[in-house]
Amino acid sequence: MLRVSRPGAALLEVRDISKAYGHVQALSDVSMHINAGEIVALVGDNGAGKSTLVKVIAGAHRPDRGAILVSGEEVEFRSPLDARERGIETVYQDLALAPDLSVWANLFLGREQYVRGPGRMVGWMNKRTMRQHARAELVRLQISIPDVDLAVEDLSGGQRQAVAVARSIAWGRRLVVMDEPTASLGVEEQEKVAGLVRRLAEHQLAVLLISHNLAQVFELAHTVVVLRRGRRVGLRSIEDATREEIVGLITGAIDGDPPE
Ligand SMILES: Nc1ncnc2c1ncn2[C@@H]1O[C@H](COP(=O)(O)OP(=O)(O)OP(=O)(O)O)[C@@H](O)[C@H]1O
Ligand SMILES: [Mg+2]
Repeated sequence: MLRVSRPGAALLEVRDISKAYGHVQALSDVSMHINAGEIVALVGDNGAGKSTLVKVIAGAHRPDRGAILVSGEEVEFRSPLDARERGIETVYQDLALAPDLSVWANLFLGREQYVRGPGRMVGWMNKRTMRQHARAELVRLQISIPDVDLAVEDLSGGQRQAVAVARSIAWGRRLVVMDEPTASLGVEEQEKVAGLVRRLAEHQLAVLLISHNLAQVFELAHTVVVLRRGRRVGLRSIEDATREEIVGLITGAIDGDPPE
């Protein structure tokens, strides 16, 4: 199929997305978009619908209504693989890393490199090359992990986040979606993940960041999208937003924006 990439179109756009779980209307007509190099924070109270929207964007849930567009082209994600093929990688809180495997093996998980010998149908995994690539990728992203041979279970929470993010970038992703990436981290590790988010944007990747930490949102994001009870009640450029207003929109103390 011919891929039309409309110049000037947002990297990702969701249009009027609705999703119900039985009687629970988790999302109602939610629209938003995100550009290359942009960090968009998605905020809202518990149950506001943030993770549901993430799962729709990640291809894990199919919306009941609405459209998803990548670079201006409407797409249909039947599975997380479909989303990945369109350059969207999602880092969940549980990360989906293999704890007993090494850092380099995690970076290459599911994409093991093979070298073909003459006349061979199957090659063998070139561990040396994968280690070298893994090291180079971590250096490029300024991620300090003492040794790529360490098992992921022997890393700190922040280092694990970093490996998960490095894996997304290493495979040429264009949008990284992070659902509360720093929720269980200490202050120093939160800072490291924040630095990583910034570098992603500097590399022209788009980042959709779900966070309850408004200080972090104001520090990192260019744009804030507020959800309340499944509806988008606010969309603000960070320069125009105040913490009081965002808190008010989250809690409902301030009336949400009228539907578009
Ligand atoms: N698999 C599910 N089955 C039924 N209801 C669900 C399911 N997942 C989420 N919900 C409901 O949908 C609504 C939105 O949930 P969602 O997880 O998207 O919220 P959230 O904004 O991510 O909240 P939190 O900040 O607590 O993570 C909630 O009312 C939740 O109870
Ligand atoms: Mg959630």
